[in-house]
Amino acid sequence: MPDIEKLIPPPLRRPAKPGEGNGNGNGNGNGNGVVDLRQPTEKNGSAATEELKGKLKDSPADVVGWVDERTGASNIVTALALRKVPKGTNWFYTLGSATMFAFICQALTGVFLAMYYTPSPVEAYASITYLTNEVFLGEFVRGMHKWGATVMIILIFMHMARTFFFGAYKYPRELNWVIGVVLIILTLVMGLTGYLLPFDQRSFWATEVANNITASGPFVGPYLADFLRAGPEIGATTIQRFYAIHMLLVPGLIIGLIGAHLFLVVKLGTTAPPWVHASKPKSLRRKDVG
Ligand code: HEM
Repeated sequence: MPDIEKLIPPPLRRPAKPGEGNGNGNGNGNGNGVVDLRQPTEKNGSAATEELKGKLKDSPADVVGWVDERTGASNIVTALALRKVPKGTNWFYTLGSATMFAFICQALTGVFLAMYYTPSPVEAYASITYLTNEVFLGEFVRGMHKWGATVMIILIFMHMARTFFFGAYKYPRELNWVIGVVLIILTLVMGLTGYLLPFDQRSFWATEVANNITASGPFVGPYLADFLRAGPEIGATTIQRFYAIHMLLVPGLIIGLIGAHLFLVVKLGTTAPPWVHASKPKSLRRKDVG
């Protein structure tokens, strides 16, 4: 039987409350404002210490327990996972999470593509050909990224349609709708900027057309097109600018906005489907009517 004192991890401490421990508000005499739970104090006499030792013996001495003790993360995770959702919640409510999953897949596969890709007109196509033909699973990861982009756009539109048809854009969720609109625009910008990167005939001419359409937009259109082209013709500076926007600027904005979007979802809760009507609380029902 091992010595019980040795089983108790030393850093199990909590801040002292005023008047606790040695009476000067500094804990039980260690002077740094924490109570060492292993030491008996006026409050936790020997019986309490024994009880504590029993509990400590059962407490998880793993990494998860260690982190949780210091962050309280399990409270947040439990509150998120076990939060109440309205009656009638169904599969349509998973479309937002599915969109997020698609985005995470894009981010992860994008990191691997960035390891091989070179953003220059001379080397872009060659680097992608090398990745596709020579690198182990390169074609697979590239395919995931390419088809994943389409999947994300389909999912985000389906999610938007769900929130629209369920009336989830109404008070108090207007701000979340607006954040969603920005998210969908940013997702389309990801598609546009990514399309140029292979720098083959198709992507070159598609970007030429897209840029001309942008230039025909009112007021800011010509300026925006000039900014995106980054020069008189689509070339080296365009590809570098598109790459920076595609892999740094827009993903950063999307991550921040998804955070704000989810914060509001958790804070406000989700909307019940339109066919579910709230029942009157018992206290408000008339006694004489059934
Ligand atoms: C990257 C894109 C997006 C992600 C990751 C995302 C994620 C989510 C998630 C996980 C939810 C929780 C419930 C559910 O899935 O329906 C949600 C709710 C919501 N989303 Fe999105 N969303 C995105 C884009 C959009 C867009 C484009 C719109 C609309 C323009 C939008 C509007 C809303 C609204 C209004 C809610 C609240 C739904 C309710 O109260 O029932 N979201 N979103």
